[in-house]
Amino acid sequence: MSGLEGVTAAQSSICFIDGEKGILSYRGYDINELAPNATFEEVVFLLWEGRLPTSDELEAFRSELAGKRDLPPAAMAVLKQVATQMGPMDALRTTVSALAAGRDDADAYDVETDRLKATATTAQVATIVAHYHRLRRGLPTVEPDATLGHAANFLWMLNGEKPTPAAERAMDVALILHADHDLNASTFSARVTAATLSDYHSAMTSAVGTLKGPLHGGANIGVMRMLLEIDESGADTTAWVKEALAAKKRIMGFGHRVYKTLDPRAVHLEALSKDLAEQAGETKWYEMSLAIQKTVKEEKGLDANVDFFSASGYYTMGIPLDLYTPIFAVARVAGWSAHVLEQHENNRLIRPLSDYTGDLGKKWVPVEQRAPTVEA
Ligand SMILES: CC(C)(COP(=O)(O)OP(=O)(O)OC[C@H]1O[C@@H](n2cnc3c(N)ncnc32)[C@H](O)[C@@H]1OP(=O)(O)O)[C@@H](O)C(=O)NCCC(=O)NCCS
Repeated sequence: MSGLEGVTAAQSSICFIDGEKGILSYRGYDINELAPNATFEEVVFLLWEGRLPTSDELEAFRSELAGKRDLPPAAMAVLKQVATQMGPMDALRTTVSALAAGRDDADAYDVETDRLKATATTAQVATIVAHYHRLRRGLPTVEPDATLGHAANFLWMLNGEKPTPAAERAMDVALILHADHDLNASTFSARVTAATLSDYHSAMTSAVGTLKGPLHGGANIGVMRMLLEIDESGADTTAWVKEALAAKKRIMGFGHRVYKTLDPRAVHLEALSKDLAEQAGETKWYEMSLAIQKTVKEEKGLDANVDFFSASGYYTMGIPLDLYTPIFAVARVAGWSAHVLEQHENNRLIRPLSDYTGDLGKKWVPVEQRAPTVEA
């Protein structure tokens, strides 16, 4: 099947999706239970341990994560080197790889070692993204604040200002909603790498590279670029979308390989986008998003996915466009880690087949006897 559509490639107890009914659960907890109630740290614990933490366990886990936020010197040196020369996803990919520098256990893949690496990397991906943004602007990096939770500390290190409670909660919910999604392309890529018995950081590096593409994590930037383009052109939003669809263009933030109905994450992100817009007194982007959603549904029958309303929400929070996909990684590193742990716990090499469509039985011809290729 092209694109492995409909193919089951692993047994997993991490994430359940019903694409027909629009259901998403992490370890048996519906996302509608988690998004309004949990923190990102609780969800990370849930994904890795398979159960929610007690209050003591949560406190211990929060401080374990908070204690790992500083980048190791080698990774910081790499980040400083590349920050002005690479885009954010490229810099993240390279720096995540450098997190393995100097580790005696770099090649180990037992569950305990994976778990240590996962804790450090989940803390540090947020640091990489925040530091990258400041370094490329020539600003001093901001030291992590151990009194802040993961979402608030990320905004603090990014902006050098303590976030409002609304911004902190919005980021926490966005991170929860992006934390895992079964065998999406980047997670599959992480599992394929881990399944060769390669190490945790190799798997994360594969995953970051896979997330970057505009058909996966890169779609949220495309959504915001579209909103800005429509606004700058002065066009009517509905007419613009109809014209784009007539020209067979893809509208970023719509359609999904698994969901055949509204992505349940989009419901929460729409509410967040609306709240943020109303608090900021600028509802233009949210309203344009609603108009696009209505038109794409009417014209193509397609529903919004996770990337659609996150774009207007992040924009209203003042987050630079090209950090939307890195923020996806800040969250998804939790899911990638859960899947690498699960893969290494019960490993088997992932090696599918292709349906060969080429020729067979050709005879070798010495190079001087080969006919020149005829240009079409
Ligand atoms: C996510 C996505 C890659 C899934 O793709 P897929 O399962 O391989 O589906 P296909 O690319 O085969 O698309 C099926 C049909 O829907 C159309 N379609 C899918 N998504 C579309 C979109 N966002 N805008 C317009 N048309 C779309 C395709 O053109 C195709 O139509 P056709 O049969 O008339 O040619 C696809 O929906 C897409 O490109 N979406 C935009 C990018 C995006 O938002 N990605 C984030 C996903 S969370």
